[in-house]
Amino acid sequence: MTARDSRPTVLTVVGARPQFVKAAPLGRALRRRVREFLVHTGQHYDRDMSDSFFEDLGIPAPDRGLGLGSGPHGKMTGRMLAGLETVMAEVRPAMVIVVGDTNSTLAGALAAAKLGLPVAHVEAGLRSFDLRMPEEINRRVTDHVSDLLLCPTPTAVRNLAHEGIRRGVHRVGDVMADAIRLHLPRARRRPRTIELAPRSYYLATLHRQENADDPERLGAVLEALSCLRHPTVLPLHPRTAQHMDALGLKAGGLVRLVPPQPYLEMLRLQAEARAVLTDSGGMQKEAYLLGTPCITLRETTEWVETLRGGANRLTGADPRRIARAVAAVERKRPRWDPRLTYGDGHAAERIATIIAAAVRSRR
Ligand code: UD1
Repeated sequence: MTARDSRPTVLTVVGARPQFVKAAPLGRALRRRVREFLVHTGQHYDRDMSDSFFEDLGIPAPDRGLGLGSGPHGKMTGRMLAGLETVMAEVRPAMVIVVGDTNSTLAGALAAAKLGLPVAHVEAGLRSFDLRMPEEINRRVTDHVSDLLLCPTPTAVRNLAHEGIRRGVHRVGDVMADAIRLHLPRARRRPRTIELAPRSYYLATLHRQENADDPERLGAVLEALSCLRHPTVLPLHPRTAQHMDALGLKAGGLVRLVPPQPYLEMLRLQAEARAVLTDSGGMQKEAYLLGTPCITLRETTEWVETLRGGANRLTGADPRRIARAVAAVERKRPRWDPRLTYGDGHAAERIATIIAAAVRSRR
């Protein structure tokens, strides 16, 4: 941001891994039209979980880092709310942009709404209809205080209509499709850091509170992964590592535990895996966009479109259901065209155009 730039300022809040991925294409498109002031709450702070994403994705350094770290939900969200309020009161942006469904999203949306600043929510309208998930609470509250609701899919638009939200709703496509379009060629050119031939392994991730914080479910998923007949790469999220250590749980069989992987390495690992097994929201969609079958270690998904034709299967944490889903994918690899669902990989341009028009009309 240069001192002489007289264009309106928008303030984007990021904090956790999935937001860095989405903020990259978004920031590029926004900065062509408005000034972007980027705030990092510090929800994710390890090098593996944060800095490497900024480097891989070419995101400019944040204009402000709050360095707040993680913690229990209330405390974390409360600290972010206070920190973001101070920055927003100082910067007085024409609009605040929040992304996805993390505690950073919720804190950003609430801080802005309380200051009377308009809010744009990127990835609005997603619902798992499971209020035990912190992310579901974050999405719902954020949507209800947002002025611009930028939806990836028609399902998301319908979900909002069911809750009476119709104003400011736009279907724009999915920014993760943009991220893949921009970064996959680079990911494929990089030397592999994990030496496994394409289609010779499964890729698994596990971090959702409902799995990582529940000893029985965590043990059941690890058991299921340990029974797979091909190597399974498991980049271990710090939350999961903490619980495995505390409970003395181990992964056996052909499971390879590795640290959280940088974005580009993760893209390539997903693109070349036999299948992805995950409880992540973002990876279900990335696998779908990359044409890799997904097995989702949850009972619900907000990305319902991915379930069509067996591209994604819900198994919860039940080892028998997981084994059956893997066998089904091995018997016949499903095929699909992701463009029909998540757009053409130009969502960020659409979003930036809508936001720029909105802030100009408010001047
Ligand atoms: C958060 C988001 C989730 C998103 C995920 C991506 C919420 C409610 N959840 O979950 O939607 O899919 O990020 O990864 O916002 N930790 C570290 N180092 C780090 C980051 C976290 O050690 O860099 C530890 C924390 O101290 C904490 C645990 O990991 O004990 C969980 O982190 P937290 O930010 O609470 O949530 P995630 O599980 O990462």
